[in-house]
Parts: sequence; structure tokens; C-alpha cells
Amino acid sequence: MDLKTYLAVRAKEVDAAMDAYLPKAKERPATIHAAMRYSIFAGGKRLRPVLCLAAAEACGGEISNALAPACAVELMHTYSLVHDDLPAMDDDDLRRGRPTCHKVYGEGMAVLCGDALLTESFIVLAKTRAVKRYNVGDYIAELAETGGSRKLIGGQVMDLEGEGKKLTKRDLVRIHEAKTAALLTTSLRLGAMTANATPAKLQALTKFGYALGLAFQVIDDILDVTQTTEMLGKTAGKDQAVEKSTYPAILGLDASRKEAAKLTLAAMDALKPLGKKAARLEEIAAYMLKRDY
Ligand code: IPE
Ligand code: IPE
Ligand code: MG
Ligand code: MG
Ligand code: MG
Repeated sequence: MDLKTYLAVRAKEVDAAMDAYLPKAKERPATIHAAMRYSIFAGGKRLRPVLCLAAAEACGGEISNALAPACAVELMHTYSLVHDDLPAMDDDDLRRGRPTCHKVYGEGMAVLCGDALLTESFIVLAKTRAVKRYNVGDYIAELAETGGSRKLIGGQVMDLEGEGKKLTKRDLVRIHEAKTAALLTTSLRLGAMTANATPAKLQALTKFGYALGLAFQVIDDILDVTQTTEMLGKTAGKDQAVEKSTYPAILGLDASRKEAAKLTLAAMDALKPLGKKAARLEEIAAYMLKRDY
């Protein structure tokens, strides 16, 4: 399968599983379930769940066993976006090419929708099959730590507090590690865990996810400057408007592009212990560097 087909096929599998897991849109109270489905099925790139599935494959596992954690990481990611877009945070009107959740359902409902998606991520994750090395508690702890105040939330806190300030590159790396790289890494690790991966393989994927995740946020920040709103499906130029400290703001576009390329190479290098089976992950990393939305 070429990469384009692979990404489309895996995203479709994730969407089908997600549709089966989520409460139906008409289930009462219908507003919240409609809002959850609105945000989930808005057309995200599904990179985290695809990384989860590809990591399972790279460790010799089955896609079917990794679908629950794949949906769980996408649920957590989508919740983080719904809250990230709220007026009290980044105040965005557009997400995944559609009006943001709070624009359609109101702010109170968007807060609750985020809460519900976050909770749902653990409901779904708890359905993952235990394997010899890892039990359901291990999966839950993995995702909970990533979603907590030391990682994703902590990163969002530092991001908000950094507005209007000129942060150092070190500060910026700390924010990106927490708000973005942690969930990408966990996506990979959870997939690998369902394949009963050895600690050495998990370690390799952790290094891969860390560098890939940093590169991912650098590219997100570059695209915010260089792309159109139409192409991104979210408002372009937002970071500058609220004086976010970003790579392009601090280092400039050229140096930021070089940094993203360097991080991607480091990510690929980290895959060596996985041998030939990691070819797909390497391909995805190259694709993520070149992405234009
Ligand atoms: C956007 O993530 C938020 C960041 C962490 C930079 P994506 O670019 O993966 O967003 P979707 O899921 O495709 O909408
Ligand atoms: C969002 O970063 C990261 C998380 C939601 C954790 P951004 O604020 O840069 O994401 P976009 O640009 O709104 O997608
Ligand atoms: Mg933000
Ligand atoms: Mg934002
Ligand atoms: Mg951004």
C-alpha cells in the first residue's frame, strides 16, 4: 500500500471504530452527543490514531487490538482542541474547516463537550485487550499521565502564560514537549503496548515520538504563518495576533524549517532498533515534515 492509501485506509478504520464507540447523536441528552460527534467527525488528519496503529504493526501486532487506544488518543486530542479554541483560551472560530464547537453549541456546551470527550477517551481505552507485558491499568496510566497537569495541561498552561512574552528556545521546547509531543509519544507507545512490545522497543518509540512531536508543533507554528485559513481549516496568523511565542517568532521561518527537518531526522534515527518493520513509521515522519496543512 502506498502511504496515501495507507493513511486513508487506517483513518477510515478509526472512524468506523469511533462511530461504534461513541453514543449515538440522538441519545439523550442529545445536544452533548451531537456536539461530541460534530467535533470528532469534523475531518481531522487522524495522525495520532494512525501513529498508534502503525506502531502496533511495527511491533508485530494486530490493527484490531490497537483500534481502542487509537480512538482514545483521538478523543483526548479532540477534547484538547475544543477547549483550546474557547474564547478564554485561543478564541478561535474555525476548526477542521468548520465553525468551532462553541460557535455552534455555545460556550457552556463546548466546555462540557470537551469534558465528555476526555472522559470518553478512558471509557474507550479501558476496552483495550491486556497482553502479557501490559494490563489495562498500564494503558490507563499511560494516557492519564499524558493528559495531566505535568504534560498536556501543563503545556497549555505554559503556552497561555507565554502570550506577550519573549520566551527562550529552551522554554519553548518545554511547552512543545508537554502540549504536543507527549500525546504523539503516547499514541505510539499505546499501539506498541497492545503488540506486547519489549521495553527496548517502547524506548525507541518514545525517542521517536519526542522528536516527531517537537517537529510537529514547529511545523504547526510555521504553517500558522505561511498558510491560508482555507488550507488549514483553522484561522491562519492567529499566533502573531496574540503574540504567542513560537519558533518562527523567535528563530525566524528559515531556522524553524531547518529545526523541523533536524528533529525529523533525529526521529527517524530513533527507529533503528525496530529494523525494517519501522519503514511505515519512517514514511509517516517524512510525510508529516512535508505536510502543508
Ligand atoms: C493541531 O493538531 C494541534 C496541535 C497539536 C498542533 P492537528 O494538526 O493534528 O489537528 P487535526 O487533528 O488534524 O485537526
Ligand atoms: C494546541 O496548540 C495544542 C493543544 C491543543 C494541546 P495550538 O493552539 O497551536 O493548536 P492550533 O493551532 O489551535 O490547532
Ligand atoms: Mg493553543
Ligand atoms: Mg490554538
Ligand atoms: Mg497552532
